[in-house]
Amino acid sequence: MDQSRIVSFRQMKDGTAADYALLDELEEEFVKKLPSRIMRELAELDESLSGYQVSRLEHSLIGATMAERDGADVDWIVAALIHDMGDALAPHNHDSLAAVIAAPYMREECTWTLRTHGIFQMYYYAHLTGGDREARQKFKDHPFYQTGVDFTERWDQSAFDPDYDWHDLEHFRPHVEEVFSRKPWQDDVIRAGERVPLAGSA
Ligand SMILES: [Fe+2]
Ligand SMILES: [Fe+2]
Repeated sequence: MDQSRIVSFRQMKDGTAADYALLDELEEEFVKKLPSRIMRELAELDESLSGYQVSRLEHSLIGATMAERDGADVDWIVAALIHDMGDALAPHNHDSLAAVIAAPYMREECTWTLRTHGIFQMYYYAHLTGGDREARQKFKDHPFYQTGVDFTERWDQSAFDPDYDWHDLEHFRPHVEEVFSRKPWQDDVIRAGERVPLAGSA
């Protein structure tokens, strides 16, 4: 192990300015590899929930391919691609996990849609399983409500067809790299409150 690349402290309170400068530098290098880690996690979705006619990865690729073919911009394409990324690690709030990952790098509208898509998606099945398909009505006055309706209708509930001709994961590497290499929390990326059409926005 390269000792010049390790801090001097064993308790944080003993750290020096040089220690923390080194950690900043190493963190920056680590963060640069985020797109690769996202790609790896997406690949893992092939092993996720069973019972559907497509794997979770295939479902994600179908949604992202549909978004691309609809002429959606890169934020929407990547949102469709990662929307179920939390399935393996956060089975009871998987939508929030995707939103947390997206938040520093994507338009606020996309992050909101990721966070709430589980509730919007209930519209398609909850009445068949004893739940409330209209649970999404709690967002009915939110400026992004219609976005949530459209996202799930176009690229989520519709993306379970094994005969659909989807792009493979590598096709979306440039999209993932573009979004997750952005400087975090930039106003011109977050575009708070702004709505961008799902179709024809590229
Ligand atoms: Fe989902
Ligand atoms: Fe989904």
